[in-house]
Amino acid sequence: MCLSWVFGLPHGKEKGTFLALDLGGTNLRVCKITLHGDEPIDGAKHSLEQEKYKLPQEIKKSSANDLWNHVADALQKFMKDKGLDRKYDKDNPMSLGFTFSYPVTQHRIDHGILQRWTKGFDISGVEGKDVAAQLREKMEERGLPIKLIALANDTVGAMIASAYNDPETIIGSIFGTGCNAAYMQCLRRDPPTIPKLELTEKQWSIIDEATKMAINCEYGAFDNNHRVLPLTKYDEEVDRESPRPRQQTFEKLSAGLYLGEIFRLVLLELTEKGFIFNNQDTRTLKQEYSIDTSFLSQIEGDNTPGLKATRNEFKEVLGIEPTKPEIELSRRLAELIAWRGARLCACGVAALCLNNDIRSGHVAVDGSVAHRHPMFKKRWATALGAILDMDERDGEEGAPIQMTSAEDGSGVGVAVIAAMTMERRQTGNTIGLN
Ligand code: GLC
Repeated sequence: MCLSWVFGLPHGKEKGTFLALDLGGTNLRVCKITLHGDEPIDGAKHSLEQEKYKLPQEIKKSSANDLWNHVADALQKFMKDKGLDRKYDKDNPMSLGFTFSYPVTQHRIDHGILQRWTKGFDISGVEGKDVAAQLREKMEERGLPIKLIALANDTVGAMIASAYNDPETIIGSIFGTGCNAAYMQCLRRDPPTIPKLELTEKQWSIIDEATKMAINCEYGAFDNNHRVLPLTKYDEEVDRESPRPRQQTFEKLSAGLYLGEIFRLVLLELTEKGFIFNNQDTRTLKQEYSIDTSFLSQIEGDNTPGLKATRNEFKEVLGIEPTKPEIELSRRLAELIAWRGARLCACGVAALCLNNDIRSGHVAVDGSVAHRHPMFKKRWATALGAILDMDERDGEEGAPIQMTSAEDGSGVGVAVIAAMTMERRQTGNTIGLN
C-alpha cells in the first residue's frame, strides 16, 4: 500500500497545459495535455497531442543510465518537434506529470524510490533509488525547460482522470500487463487509517474528517509469502523463472504478462508426456513467453467454423497444426486460465469495497486484458457480483458497483494530478509537497 500524496478527487474544473510522460511496459509516451475544466471545447474537457516512442526490448534489462537517457531524449525530441522548447525556458518551465507504473515509496509527490521492478523489468541501478531525481538529472544535462511536478502510479492516474469526468468514480484499476488498483482512503489519526502516514502536529491540524488520500494498493504483490493463494506447479514455475521470484505472486496468477506463459507451460507438459502435438515441431512451444496473452483472447473469441482462426494462429505463432481434440483442449485451457485471472481481479476490487464499506460507484478500468479479452469484463462482473452479493445484475450496467472504461490515466490523469498539486500549493495544504 503506497502513499500517493494525491489529496481528494479532482473537482473537475482544473485547467492548464501540462506535459505527461508515461513509462509503460512496451512504449514510452509523451503528451502535451490542455485541461479545459468547466469550459470544455466541443464537449471535450481536454485536448491532447502525443507521440509514442518505442521502448527497445534491451532497455528492460539495461542500466539506469540507458533508461533515463532514452527517456530524456524522447522528452527532448517531443519538446523540439512541438515547438515547446521555444515557448518555455528555465525561468518559465513546462510542468510535467510522470506516470511510473511500478511500486515506489513516496515521501513527497515529486519523488519516488523504486521498491523493486515488476512486470519483467530488470534495469540495474534504479531499485532503491529516487526515479524522479534520476530523470531530473538527465533533463538538466540536456537543459530541458521542464519541471517535474508529480509522480504517479497508473492506477492513481486512471482513478483521477476518470473522476475528472465522472464524479462517481471510486477506484482506478489496471488489468493489463500487470494488475493493481488505487482507491481513496480517509485520513484518521486515531485509530490510524493509514498507519505508515507520518505527519507533524501542524499537518494533522489542517486535516479534517473529509480529507482523503489516494492509495496505490500494489496488490499484485499480495501473498508474496505464498501462504494464501492456491498455486499450481505451473504458477510456481512462472515464479521461479521470473527475474524476481517470490515477488508479485497475485499478479503472476492474474495479469496479462503471465496468462500466456501459464498456458504454454501446461501445453508443454502435455506435449512432453506424449498426450498432444505428436510428430509436430514444438521448438517454439519450448521457448519461454512464446505465447502472448492475446493468443488466449483469440482462442476464446474465435467464432469461425471448426475454429479455423485458432488453427491458423497455432500455425502462425507456434508452427503447430493441431487436431480437433487438441484445439478443443486448448480452448478449454485458455478458458480456465482466463476465468481464474478474472476472478482474482474481482477479489482485489471486492476487498477494497468490503474493507472500506464502499457500496456503490464506478470502478474505472484500463489495461490490455480488460479491453481486449472478449470475456474478461463479463467474468469479472459476475465474480464481483457473487463476492459482494450484489444481486443478479452481477456488477454489470445498473449494478451498484460497476466497471467503467477508465479515461487516459497515464496522460490526462497525471496532468490533472499536476494541476491539483499546483492548486493545493496555493491553498496552503502543502503536505507531501516540496
Ligand atoms: C504492476 C506494478 C504496478 C502497476 C501495475 C499495472 O503491478 O507494480 O505499479 O500499477 O503493474 O500496470
